[in-house]
Amino acid sequence: MFGRSTLALAALASSVSAARPKTQDASQVTLRDPLTYGPELELVHLYYDEFPTGIAVSSQGRMFSNYPGGLDSNDTNNGQNGKYTIAELFDDNTANNFQERPYPSREINSPPGGAINYTTYPPSGANYQNYLIGSQSCVIDPADRLWILDTGRVLTPNGTLVPASYGGPKLIGVNLSNDTVFQTIVFPTTVAYADSYLNDVRFDLRSSLTSSGKGVAYITDSSVEGRNGIIVVDLGTGESWRHLDGNPTVHPARQWSAYLWGTPLYQVMPGKPFTYGQFGSDGIALSADGATLFYKNVAGRQLYSIPTSYLRANGPTSEVLAQGAVNTLGETGVTDGMETDTNNYIYHGNMEQDAVSFFNPANGTDTVFVRDPRLNWIDTFSTATDGYLYFTSNQLVLGSGFYPGTDRRQRPFALWRVQLPGNGTKTNLR
Ligand SMILES: *[C@@H]1O[C@H](CO)[C@@H](O)[C@H](O)[C@H]1NC(C)=O
Ligand SMILES: *[C@@H]1O[C@H](CO)[C@@H](O)[C@H](O)[C@H]1NC(C)=O
Ligand SMILES: *[C@@H]1O[C@H](CO)[C@@H](O)[C@H](O)[C@H]1NC(C)=O
Ligand SMILES: *[C@@H]1O[C@H](CO)[C@@H](O)[C@H](O)[C@H]1NC(C)=O
Ligand SMILES: *[C@@H]1O[C@H](CO)[C@@H](O)[C@H](O)[C@H]1NC(C)=O
Ligand SMILES: *[C@@H]1O[C@H](CO)[C@@H](O)[C@H](O)[C@H]1NC(C)=O
Ligand SMILES: *[C@@H]1O[C@H](CO)[C@@H](O)[C@H](O)[C@H]1NC(C)=O
Repeated sequence: MFGRSTLALAALASSVSAARPKTQDASQVTLRDPLTYGPELELVHLYYDEFPTGIAVSSQGRMFSNYPGGLDSNDTNNGQNGKYTIAELFDDNTANNFQERPYPSREINSPPGGAINYTTYPPSGANYQNYLIGSQSCVIDPADRLWILDTGRVLTPNGTLVPASYGGPKLIGVNLSNDTVFQTIVFPTTVAYADSYLNDVRFDLRSSLTSSGKGVAYITDSSVEGRNGIIVVDLGTGESWRHLDGNPTVHPARQWSAYLWGTPLYQVMPGKPFTYGQFGSDGIALSADGATLFYKNVAGRQLYSIPTSYLRANGPTSEVLAQGAVNTLGETGVTDGMETDTNNYIYHGNMEQDAVSFFNPANGTDTVFVRDPRLNWIDTFSTATDGYLYFTSNQLVLGSGFYPGTDRRQRPFALWRVQLPGNGTKTNLR
C-alpha cells in the first residue's frame, strides 16, 4: 500500500513537471501583489533640501511646509546656515527650479544666536516667544488662517534632542492676507513639559464651544520621552490644559516596530542601544461635525477616538471622565498623520502597505484608498478646498533615528495629492 502510493505520487509529480513548460516564468502563473491601487497620485512638490513633515494648503492654493529641527539636525537654524523651520512652497518639480520662501518671514525663522541655548547644561531650546525654534506642524484653520505649532525643541549636531524652555513651545497664528502674526499662544510648563513634543493640531472654530467664542485647538504630545497626552487650547483666552496623560492609548505600544518593504525598523537614540519605536500620540483628526477626535500613537496600529466634549471639559473630574470615554476602533496600520474630509472619512497613512487608507466611522471599517511603491512614510495630510488630499512622503524611517542608525534617505522628499472620493472637500468647523 505504502509503496504503491509513493509510486503514484512520484508519477503524479513527473506528470506535473512534464506538463509545465520549463521555459515558463513562474511569475506569470502565480498570483502576485499588484502594488498599486486607487486614484491617480499627482506629484505637487519635491523637497531637495530640508526634511519636511507638515503640509497646509490654503483656499487660494498657497502651500506651506515645515521642517522640524527636532527630527533632522540639518533642519536646525544655527543663526548662520540660512535654514528655516517653515516655508511657503512654489511649484517646480525640477531640481533646478524648486523654490521655498521662509514664512512668514526669514526673520521669524532666525532666532538670534540660533535655536539652541548652549549657556545651559545640558543645552536647551532657545526661549524666544517671537521666533520659531522647531516647528513640527502647520495647519490652515476653517477661517483660512495658518497656524504654526512650535515644539521649542531641536537636535544638536550629534543628534541629541534638547529640552524646551518656556517660550519655545507655542502656537502662532498667521494672517495669510498680509503674512503677519496675529496671535501667539505660549504653553505653560505644566502643559508643554520640557520633554513634551507638540506634534500635530486640529481646529474647531465654532463659537458655541467655549465662553470666549473663538473656538479650540486639539494638539497631540508625541514625546519619545514618554509623557504623552492630548492638549486642548481655548483660542479666545489662550488657556490650555492636558488630558489622557498616562493613558495607554497615547503611549507607544509595547515592543513595537514598523516594517518598510518587509524589513523591521528599530529606533535608535544617540548613545544608547537600539530599541523598539517610542513615538506616542501623533496623528489627529476631527470628525466632520467636530464631535469626535480620532488619534493614534505612531508606535502602534490601533486607532482611538474620544468625544471632544470630554476633552474640552476642564474640571475636577474631567480627566477621569475623559479616560473612561476613549473608544478603541481596531487596527488601521501604522501612520503618522491623519485627516478628515466632508465624507467624514478619517484618512491615515498605512506605511507598511505603501498606502493611504481611510477609516469610515459609519461602518467601523478601514479601507485602502491609494497604494503605490513611491509612498513610504506618509507624514502629514491636509485636505484642501480644491477637493484634494495633500500629503508628504518623507522616508522618516530610513533616517538615522532608525536601525541601523545610518541615514539611508534619498532626496528629494515628495508632496503628493489625490482627488478626494465622492466630491469630498475640506471640512468647515466655524
Ligand atoms: C547635513 O548637511 C551636511 C552638509 O550639507 C551633509 O554633509 C550631511 O550629510 C547632512 N546630514 C543629513 C542627515 O542630511
Ligand atoms: C539661555 O539660558 C539662560 C540661562 O537660563 C537665560 O538667561 C537666557 O535667557 C537663555 N537665552 C535664550 C535665547 O534662550
Ligand atoms: C488679516 O489682515 C487683513 C488685511 O490687513 C485684515 O483685513 C484682517 O482683518 C486680518 N485678519 C486677522 C484675523 O487679523
Ligand atoms: C496685517 O493685518 C493686521 C490686522 O488687520 C494689522 O494689524 C497689521 O498691521 C497688518 N500688517 C501689515 C504688515 O500690513
Ligand atoms: C551631544 O552634544 C551635547 C551638546 O553639545 C552633549 O551634551 C552630549 O553629551 C552629546 N551626546 C553624545 C551622545 O555625544
Ligand atoms: C465602509 O465604507 C467605505 C466607504 O463608503 C466603503 O468603501 C467600504 O467598502 C465599507 N466597508 C464595508 C465592510 O462595508
Ligand atoms: C460630484 O459632483 C458632480 C458635479 O456636481 C455630480 O455630477 C456628481 O454626481 C457628484 N458625485 C458624487 C459622488 O456626489
